[in-house]
Parts: sequence; structure tokens; C-alpha cells
Amino acid sequence: MEERMISSHFSTEDEPMEFSLRPRYLDDYIGQTRVKENLKVFIEAAKMRRDPLDHVLLYGPPGLGKTTLSHIIANEMGVQVRITSGPAIERPGDLAAILTNLQQGDLLFIDEIHRLNRSVEEVLYPAMEDFALDIVIGKGPSARSVRLDLPPFTLVGATTRAGSLSSPLRDRFGVVSRLEYYSTEELSLIVMRAADLLGVSIQEEGAEEIACRSRGTPRVSNRLLKRVRDFVQVQGDGVITGEAARDALDRIQVDRLGLDEVDHKLLKTIITHFRGGPVGLETIAATIGEEAHTVEDVYEPYLMQIGFLQRTPRGRMLTPRCYQHFGVESPT
Ligand code: ADE
Repeated sequence: MEERMISSHFSTEDEPMEFSLRPRYLDDYIGQTRVKENLKVFIEAAKMRRDPLDHVLLYGPPGLGKTTLSHIIANEMGVQVRITSGPAIERPGDLAAILTNLQQGDLLFIDEIHRLNRSVEEVLYPAMEDFALDIVIGKGPSARSVRLDLPPFTLVGATTRAGSLSSPLRDRFGVVSRLEYYSTEELSLIVMRAADLLGVSIQEEGAEEIACRSRGTPRVSNRLLKRVRDFVQVQGDGVITGEAARDALDRIQVDRLGLDEVDHKLLKTIITHFRGGPVGLETIAATIGEEAHTVEDVYEPYLMQIGFLQRTPRGRMLTPRCYQHFGVESPT
């Protein structure tokens, strides 16, 4: 699958930008109001008690700022952050090495924590609960377990699938926060802030135009902002107006709802070949030349989120709303 402009997954091209635009403190962070307000209280209370913050689980779709929030928590607590991910920790010894290198109060961020394997997860339980590492020395009948003390630390786990987390792991997080898609208003503010940091002139209408095509995701809005900036720099007067943003986004084929040509192909295929469904996942995938799991994990979630597509026991179905978007009469 080629990289899409509106993909919410992290790409290496996002890296310098995500880093420089990342808000550093809670007060600079736009949106996720409930999560933010709660974290503020927990952080303040932990600081008053001079304890590390309780372990935090952040879950929700990709690109909504889980990594950013973990950096912010570390900055607010005044501690160092150590970053790793579920798939990167292959063996229990890898995790033991990370844990024994932590300093008092450090924040350990584990991205994609649902992908930790079971033997690694078991090392994490006593580490989270008692700040201890149980090491087995020797094999067979003479094997014995030795307990090492760890410095108190905060684990921040991030996952796109809270449901795939084992319940013993989930239960060990004191704070569980779900991140939501951002509203267009919030994304507009994020775009204005990013443009300001990048030294790009933008009008409110330009920011709104980018925001409404960003699929509720700051990572996408920052990427679209960069491309629109290219167009106004080369072909315009350097100012992102509503019209300039509209033209640029039309040129890169991201429509008013943030749908790109791949989404269009998928939806139009269901309209023309299957009269809007129901049609099976495998059939759709074969028709547009993609793997079924790619269609399911990458293409469908946003289409369901905007109410264009439904998963039913008989297969996928388009909604009247989807037909309306394409200006085609719905068969029902
Ligand atoms: N950049 C990316 N996400 C952001 C957010 N939630 N607030 C401010 N700037 C951001």
C-alpha cells in the first residue's frame, strides 16, 4: 500500500515536523479537554505528595497525540522520558534492561503496548505493582527467584486497541484515558498554532478548510498544512486563504470530508458493482486490489466514523449519506 496523504499512521516524513510543533505543556495542548483536565489534577496531586504519577494508559485511534501527551506528562512532572514500543521489546531480558536503567520518577512510554508478548508482560506486572523485578536464576529443581528493587517510575502505555490488552495488564493502570477525534474547531486552532510556529501566514478560513479535511487528526492536519504551504509559496502570494487552501487540497485530491482517491475508488466500486451492498470484505478487497485486513484496519474506520459505511452480518453496506456525498440516488 502506498503512503497516503491522509494516513493517520506516523511516517518518517512527519518526524521533524511532529517534533517541532509538539506542544510541550498541558496549557499549549488543544483539545481532549476531559483527558487534559483530569491529568492536570493527577499530576498536581502526585507532585504535592512527591510521588511518581500513577501508571497511565492512553488509548484511541492513531495520530491523536498519545506520544505528545506522554512527553507533556514528563515535562509537567519534571522527569525524563524513556521511549520504546511493544514490538521492540522481544524478550523479558530486554524489558529488564530498560527497567533497571530507569532513574527515580522517570516516565517509561511503551507505544503499541497491546503487542507485548506474554512473557514480557509478566515481567511488567511486579514492576508496575511493587517496583520490583523478579529474576529466575538457574534451571530445573535448583532454580530460584531473586527480587530486585526498581526505582519508582511511571509507565505510560499507548494503544489503538484497548480491547486487545490482557485484563491483568489493563487493571494495573491507575489512569485510563481515551483520546477522541478532534472537532473541526479544535483542528483549526491546531493548524493556526502550527502555521504560527512555522512562520506561515494563514487566514481563519484557510485553517478551517484544512481542518475539515483532516479526518479529526492533528497528524493529518499538520501534513496537509505543509502541502498547502508549498502551493501558496510557489503559486500564490504566500498567504493561506480559504480559497488557496481549497485549491491546493483539491489539487492533491483530498475532498471536503478528507476522503482521498483510494476512499473514492472503494466507495464507487461498492456503488457501481454492488448497488451499495451488502458485499463481503474479501470481495471488496479483491475488487480494488488490496488485502482484506488493509481494507478493514486502514480504509474502513474513518468511513464508518463519518457514517458512510456500515458493517452488517451480511456484509458491508453504504448509507444514504454516502450516496448524497457523491450526488447519486440511493437504491433504498
Ligand atoms: N499539534 C499536534 N497536536 C496538537 C494539540 N493537541 N495541541 C496543539 N498542538 C498540536
